[in-house]
Amino acid sequence: MITKAVSILRAGGLVAFPTETVYGLGADATNAAAISKIFAAKERPVDHPLIVHLARMEQLSEWACEVPPAALKLAQAYWPGPLTIILKKQPSVLPSVTGGQDTIGLRLPRHPVAQALLQAFGGGIAAPSANRFTHISPTTAAAVYEELGNKVDLILDGGACEVGLESTIIDMSRDQPRVLRPGMITAQAIAEVLGASVAVTQQPEQAIRAPGMHHLHYAPTTQTVLIATDKISSFISSLAAEELPIALVTYSDLSLPMIAGIYSICMSQNVAAYAHDLYHTLRLLDNQGVKRIVMEMVPTEEEWDAVRDRLFKAGTLIDNLSKK
Ligand code: TXA
Ligand code: MG
Repeated sequence: MITKAVSILRAGGLVAFPTETVYGLGADATNAAAISKIFAAKERPVDHPLIVHLARMEQLSEWACEVPPAALKLAQAYWPGPLTIILKKQPSVLPSVTGGQDTIGLRLPRHPVAQALLQAFGGGIAAPSANRFTHISPTTAAAVYEELGNKVDLILDGGACEVGLESTIIDMSRDQPRVLRPGMITAQAIAEVLGASVAVTQQPEQAIRAPGMHHLHYAPTTQTVLIATDKISSFISSLAAEELPIALVTYSDLSLPMIAGIYSICMSQNVAAYAHDLYHTLRLLDNQGVKRIVMEMVPTEEEWDAVRDRLFKAGTLIDNLSKK
C-alpha cells in the first residue's frame, strides 16, 4: 500500500494518511497542482498555510532557511511527535503551501504509517487535517472517508489516532517563542525544554461568547453548548420536552437523574484519554439526530488547555439561565 501511495503522490494525487494526532490529507509539497487539489478537496480558503511533514530532521534545512538553536532543541526533544515548528521558509517553497507567508510549519510525525510513507516518498508531504473546512478533524480512516469520500485517491488506514487532537504549533521564527495552537505538548513543557518563557496566543474562540453567537471552527453540525459542572443538574432538569433528545457529555462523577431523552456519555478524567476520544465522540453524536450536544466544561489546569481550546471551537459556553 505504501508503494501505491507513493506513486499517487508522485503523480500529483492526494493520499490521506494517519498521524499520531489526526489524519492528514497529503500531497507532494513541491507540486503546485497537487497542492491546489488539497484546497479544492477541503473547500479551504487558499490563504490558510499547510504543514509540511518530513521523515528526517536533516531535511529541515531544505524547507527552513533559518533554524535557531532553540528550534533545534525543540525538534530534538519532541520529534518525531505532535509538535509543529514554524520557521522562516526557504525561498524555493511554493507560496501556495505557506499561504503567501514567509514562514513554514514543519513536523516529523511519529505514527509508523506516516513514517513509512514519508521515508518511501523521500520528500516533504504537505498535509492539513483530512476534513472539510470548519469540520472536526478525522481520527479514523472511516472519518476521513465520511469527510472527503472520493475526493482523495487513497486512504491509508492506520487505526485510531493515538493523541486525537491536532499538534501543538510553536512559532520559532520570531524573537520570542509563541504557541499559536495549543496541543498535548503544553507551553509549560516547551518552556522547560527551552529554559525560556513561551508566549501563548489567546485563541479568539476562548473569549466567552454570548449564548447563541455564531461561530464556525471545528464544530459539529449539531448545535453544541458548553456548561460548567455545577450548572449541569439544574440545566437538565429545566429542559422542556421539545428540547429533547440531547446528548450530554461529562467527565466528572455526577449523580444526575435519569431522564428519558438525555443520552449520557461519560468521558475519561485522564486528559490523554479524553483527548484521544473527543473528536470520535463528537463525530458519533453528530450523526445521532439529537437536538443539542451538551458538553461539561473541562478543568482550567494547563494540561487541559488543548482540550479546552477544541471545546471552545466546537461550542458556545452557556449558563443555565440563558440556555435558549
Ligand atoms: O496535527 C496536525 O497538525 C495535523 C496533522 C495532519 O499533521 N495537521 C493539521 O493541519 O492540523 P491543519 O492545516 O488542519 O492546521 C494547520 C494549522 C492551520 O491553522 C494553519 O493556519 C497553521 O497550522 N499554520 C501552518 N503554517 C503556518 C505558518 N507558516 N504560520 C502560521 N500558522 C501556520
Ligand atoms: Mg485542520
